[in-house]
Amino acid sequence: MKHLIAPSILSADFANIQRDVEMINNSLADWFHIDIMDGVFVPNISFGFPVVKAIKKHAKKPMDVHLMIVDPDRYLQHFKDAGADILTIHIEACTHLHRTVQAIKNLGMKAGVAINPHTPVNSLSEIIADIDLVCIMSVNPGFGGQSFIENTYNKIAQLKQLIESKNSKALIEIDGGVDLKNYKKLIDAGANVLVAGNTVFSSANTTQTIADLKAPNP
Ligand code: DX5
Ligand code: ZN
Repeated sequence: MKHLIAPSILSADFANIQRDVEMINNSLADWFHIDIMDGVFVPNISFGFPVVKAIKKHAKKPMDVHLMIVDPDRYLQHFKDAGADILTIHIEACTHLHRTVQAIKNLGMKAGVAINPHTPVNSLSEIIADIDLVCIMSVNPGFGGQSFIENTYNKIAQLKQLIESKNSKALIEIDGGVDLKNYKKLIDAGANVLVAGNTVFSSANTTQTIADLKAPNP
């Protein structure tokens, strides 16, 4: 499949959120990536439901919501109501991961599971057949603009094998430090979805940068 690009709203201009949402609508981007941080699971607080709803009002593409929060079960319905199409929770934040994944799917959303840089890929072996997406964190979650962790390539290779061996349909998403220098190598390694925050929003021409990240035949 052709890879997907999901610009991360975390790096957008919150005082001009509608402008940035419309830029993404009119670009070659595929999804909106929306980071929710609670100041407990990660050392940062991003934004909550009113902002997600405000984005949804203008967004014309799927909303890929990444929860970096403890006890996400409490909020699944709220994120559905706020407009999430894909809801990703962290394996490190879920005691009953299987139950949480089923609850997300029962609410009519796609279910993703994110793994931190220290979490082994094989910890997904008993859930991989049930999920729609794996988000490999290629930075320690909490902030945009951090540098990419090179071990991510090994994790992509391991995850590809696991997905094939379990006949899973899960997409491989890479989140953190994706830039114009590493995106081709990530796609070659097997990534299906690239999240990009800083690379898109700190560039002079955001629409063109998204087009560059979508460039064919990487
Ligand atoms: C990191 C977030 C990312 C972040 C990526 O905790 O999950 O989605 O926005 O930002 P960049 O692309 O700037 O590393
Ligand atoms: Zn994210």
